[in-house]
Amino acid sequence: MTSIESNAVSDASLDKIREVVFDAETISARVQSLGREITDYYGSGELLVLGLLKGSFIFLADLVRNIGRPLQVDFLVASSYGSKTTSSGEVRLVYDPKTQLKGKHILLVEDIVDSGKTINRLVGVLRERDPLSLEVCALLDKGIANYLVIEPRFLGFEAPTKFLVGYGLDHAENHRHLPYIGALEE
Ligand code: IMP
Ligand code: MG
Repeated sequence: MTSIESNAVSDASLDKIREVVFDAETISARVQSLGREITDYYGSGELLVLGLLKGSFIFLADLVRNIGRPLQVDFLVASSYGSKTTSSGEVRLVYDPKTQLKGKHILLVEDIVDSGKTINRLVGVLRERDPLSLEVCALLDKGIANYLVIEPRFLGFEAPTKFLVGYGLDHAENHRHLPYIGALEE
């Protein structure tokens, strides 16, 4: 178990992080085994790993290096939904992957599943592109989503219902660079 201080890059706002929830070694071991699960899951066919930015960027980088089969990588950026845009299926892609999705196995990689709205909306958009298959890999799942169009087939950790930061996850764009996942003070 690494302490917040010894494992962190120097960061003036660290005092707001209350506890380390998953340390760097724990994350690394789990990401390695997720990579093996994904390698074993896919048979023939092209695999496109689609990272949802920004939160998945560190997870995705570590994950793909642990997948032992040919694959392609692209990203997507979804518009964040405000309280006004709650109707189902409404998601705008701010960055739309340029790689063709049709006929490929698509693995959507997300940092954390909270309400599930992000997954539910993106799945509709991606299915329209006619992929060969569509699965979700989430690093974390708080287990509080009422309904998920697709349950993550690959999941790193069940997460506590706290606000988590680090390893790509942010609070107001801060803390993404931390090598561990910590919980913010309430
Ligand atoms: P959902 O659409 O409610 O499932 O939320 C998913 C998105 O909200 C994630 O991709 C994150 O960007 C963000 N999010 C949800 N919970 C947390 C958290 O605890 N820390 C940081 N970001 C979070
Ligand atoms: Mg975020």
